[in-house]
Amino acid sequence: MSEYRSFEHDVLVIGAGGAGLRAAIAAASTGVSVGLVCKSLLGKAHTVMAEGGIAAALANVDDRDGWRVHFADTMRGGQYLNNADMAEIHAQDAPDRVRELEAWGAVFDRTSDGRILQRNFGGHKYPRLAHVGDRTGLEMIRTLQDHGVHQGIDVHMECTVITLLKHGGRVVGAFGYDRERGRFTVFKCKAVVLATGGIGRAFKVTSNSWEYTGDGHTLAYDAGAELIDMEFVQFHPTGMVWPPSVAGILVTEGVRGEGGILKNSEGRRFMFDDIPDLYVDQTADNEDEGWRYTQGDKEARRPPELLTRDHVARCIVREIKAGRGSPHGGVFLDIGWIRERMGGHEAHIKRKLPSMDHQFKELAGLDITQEPMEVGPTTHYVMGGIRVDAQSQMSTVPGLFAAGECGAGLHGANRLGGNSLSDLLVFGKRAGDHAATFARENGDVAIDEAQVESTASAALTCFERSSGESPYGIQGELQETMQSLVGIVRTAEDMTRARDAIAGLRARAAEVGVPGNREYNPGWHTALDLHSLLTVSEAVARAGLEREESRGAHYREDFPEKSEECAKFNLVVSKGDDGEMNIRRLERPPLKPEHQAIIEEMK
Ligand code: FUM
Repeated sequence: MSEYRSFEHDVLVIGAGGAGLRAAIAAASTGVSVGLVCKSLLGKAHTVMAEGGIAAALANVDDRDGWRVHFADTMRGGQYLNNADMAEIHAQDAPDRVRELEAWGAVFDRTSDGRILQRNFGGHKYPRLAHVGDRTGLEMIRTLQDHGVHQGIDVHMECTVITLLKHGGRVVGAFGYDRERGRFTVFKCKAVVLATGGIGRAFKVTSNSWEYTGDGHTLAYDAGAELIDMEFVQFHPTGMVWPPSVAGILVTEGVRGEGGILKNSEGRRFMFDDIPDLYVDQTADNEDEGWRYTQGDKEARRPPELLTRDHVARCIVREIKAGRGSPHGGVFLDIGWIRERMGGHEAHIKRKLPSMDHQFKELAGLDITQEPMEVGPTTHYVMGGIRVDAQSQMSTVPGLFAAGECGAGLHGANRLGGNSLSDLLVFGKRAGDHAATFARENGDVAIDEAQVESTASAALTCFERSSGESPYGIQGELQETMQSLVGIVRTAEDMTRARDAIAGLRARAAEVGVPGNREYNPGWHTALDLHSLLTVSEAVARAGLEREESRGAHYREDFPEKSEECAKFNLVVSKGDDGEMNIRRLERPPLKPEHQAIIEEMK
């Protein structure tokens, strides 16, 4: 028998970014016992990469804003593949969640009359992003952590969960190991909330750090839950491209929100070249700011750099491919020009974008108040994830909940910037509340020792092949494959090659070897991460093949238009009894009349 440590909680939250922390706080506040598992250290989360703000219709800067406009913007941004009930809940609850965060001590930038300041962001009709300079995600994590430590939550840091334990069809716990000493750990619980974030590390160029290997997606899939919308991966338009060691690090959309403009090597604002029909009306909105956006005979009163991320990323790729890119393979992002508008003061830029100022100075030796940045798309976020009930966030497996990036439904085919932070607050809270209720209403659980034993021995087999292939090579090949064949521009031929390559990599992954032992062994961690990375990659490639159209973040060169037929379904990924991945079309329910009415009215 393997040795393991054991812990027992009513609710176990796996993942300690914004969604996990908010879920843990919600569950603990109802009086149940809560365990919070972090793969890394508490507070180190991709949440901090949502730098530019939290989207919430507080209407502090423009009183025309309201939850209905936010709902309509979110649906349009997601190209109407969103779960409309989630979009409604999100738009309605977000202002309360932001005010609650403020009450817990979050320090927001302020309007001149002392209200929370809001800035423009892509696809949001009005300035809607409550922010703290360009460190909003960091401030959110700090606030949630400060609040959470007083709630009696047990935190398990540097622990990776490798399987969910089930009994009688429901989830009853989780099995993992601590990353320092490699000791196995069993968590027994009555409900689990997955909040593990995204899948960015399946790609070569990404804003995600090492933790984001699709763990929650895979834990849920292996436990029999369904994934949805996996073809939709968001490539944030602006990541660093130079120097190579920092390629992919995020350059916040807040730069464009504060007036940053995109230019090609000819000095032209190429974003004027292509304004999608869905957004033509939005180009004439910000006139009272006195900004003029003109190029040739084209005029817009809302900067075209603030179109949705999917579109901006494709326009950047178009410029680069046409040979009009910057020296290091990106395009130029210029915020320095607003010095003139601010009477020559660089202080404004430094105050609004302190992290960007610091990041470029330290990492690229560049002063963004004087010179344009070089930027290009970076894998940032996955819209796809665990299919959940809109109200409760419970997956299709009893007792298993999901929130934040690893849950899905709200964003449809493309997420609007800033909607991730509001998503994780709104649905993190709901997941925590409902998991606590589930735990109270569904009594004692029993652990299946055979499942623990078989998982433990499978996790150790790579040590029996110490001279086998290294897991790092497989990880690198997978990242190259996803980047080049399932990236911003896709074709059936490329995705078929990717799917076949992933199958080959999976076979090799089953034979990897790791020297040494369980203690302080990153090779072992990488070997164990491969299963998740391969699973989510396969899901993205297969779903991408199945969706024969271009919509939101999924752009197919061989099907460049949207298709009415494809608007009628979401794609669901699940594990068959034979262990193979299945994809099925889930017919979309007709929009409720009240949702339809809002969308019509906002047009
Ligand atoms: O650009 C950003 O600050 C990212 C925000 C987000 O992903 O929501």
